Amino acid sequence: MNIELVQFEKRNDSRGNLSFFEVDESRFFPIKRVYWLYDVPKFSSRGAHAHKNLRQIMLCVKGSLQIKLDDGYSKRDITLNDPTVGLVVEKMIWRDITDFSSDAVLIVFASERYSEDDYFRNYEDFLSASKVP
Ligand code: TYD
Repeated sequence: MNIELVQFEKRNDSRGNLSFFEVDESRFFPIKRVYWLYDVPKFSSRGAHAHKNLRQIMLCVKGSLQIKLDDGYSKRDITLNDPTVGLVVEKMIWRDITDFSSDAVLIVFASERYSEDDYFRNYEDFLSASKVP
């Protein structure tokens, strides 16, 4: 499956922690959009879609949540609960995001501007498209 967990820098001193990454194109894609999810009710589920072309880096900067990933062939279940770990999700991966802790904040860095045309919101449509050779 086309995902990767990346470890970001962490600078710690008596004033607390600071993490960062730079958009080095040999490592990451150029970022055109940033959005974030927060105050998600305990039993809510987000996502439930795949993207035709969009690539994303997901970073849970506070709290914890679960991400279920499915590329049409295999499934992975990832816990994000570390503000120094980013999940890189390439295109054509269905995701369901659940189990948000009450303090969870998920920030997403995206390779493209928002376009509803880039979404598969129907799982069967995604599955058929993922099987095209
Ligand atoms: P939605 O895709 O349903 O959120 P999620 O996949 O996280 O559950 O998006 C919710 C609404 O926000 C929907 O009306 C589309 C809009 N939206 C934007 O306008 N810009 C964006 O960058 C994103 C991610 C969503």
